[in-house]
Amino acid sequence: MEMKQRANKITMLTAYDYITSSLLDELGIDVILVGDSLGMVILGHETTLPVTMEEMLHHTKAVARAAKRSMVVGDMPFMSYQISVEEALYNAGRFLKEAGVQAIKLEGGEEICPVVFKMVKVGIPVMGHLGVTPQSVHQMGGYAVQGREEQAAKKMIADAKVLEEAGAFAIVLEKIPSELAKKITQTIRVPTIGIGAGPHCDGQVLVTQDLLGMFEKFIPQFVKQYAKLSNDIRSAISSYIKEVKAGEFPGEEHSF
Ligand code: KIV
Repeated sequence: MEMKQRANKITMLTAYDYITSSLLDELGIDVILVGDSLGMVILGHETTLPVTMEEMLHHTKAVARAAKRSMVVGDMPFMSYQISVEEALYNAGRFLKEAGVQAIKLEGGEEICPVVFKMVKVGIPVMGHLGVTPQSVHQMGGYAVQGREEQAAKKMIADAKVLEEAGAFAIVLEKIPSELAKKITQTIRVPTIGIGAGPHCDGQVLVTQDLLGMFEKFIPQFVKQYAKLSNDIRSAISSYIKEVKAGEFPGEEHSF
C-alpha cells in the first residue's frame, strides 16, 4: 500500500522452483507468486483445475526456501477454498505453516469475501484476483477479456471494493480493458497488479516462462517475450547430444 501511495510500481513474477526463485529474489522482484499456472506450465495440464494442495505446497516450499527478500504468495488451487470457510482457513494455514509464504491468493469477488474476511482476521494476508479467473474457465467459456460490457464492469468495480473491505491487501486484475483497470485502481486504496490489464495498474505480473520465451503451447497477446530461451535450450541440448555421440564430451578438462 505504501508503494501504491508513492506511485512505486510493484513487480511480480511467478516461480515454481528454487533456482528461478533465487534469481527473482536476487534481481529485486517485489513479489514471487507460486501460481496455480503450475498446472499448465510445469505439470502439462490443459487448465489449472487439476492442481492439488499437495502439488502447490511441494513447489511453494522450494520457492520460499530461496526467497530472502521478496514476498512469496501461494496461489490456492481450485476447490481448496470454495467448500467451506473452515476448509479454506485450514488450507490457507498450510501455505503459511508448511510452505513458508507470507500471503495467499484467491480467485473471485463478492462470493469469496466471507473467506477473505476470516483469513485476514486470523492473520493470513490475502491477495484477490478478478477479471479472467482461470479456475472458472468452464463457466466463462474460455479466457476472453472480461468486463467489456457496462454491467460486467460495474460488477467488477463492486467486487474490487468488497474485496478491499473484506481485507484483501492487493488485487490481481487479469485480462480486462485498460480503462476498467484504471477505474478500479483509482477506486480502491489497495494495489492492483495487472496481467493483460494495461499500464494503469499499481503493478504488473507475468508468468516467468512466458516472459522468458519458454512456454510455447500458446502465447497470450498480453505477454512480452524478453528472451527466447526455448531456442537457447534447443541449441544447448542439441550440441550436448552431438558431442556425446561424437565422443567430444567429456573432454580432458572434465575428466579425473
Ligand atoms: O496462476 C498464476 O500464475 C496467476 C497469475 C497469472 C496472476 O494467477
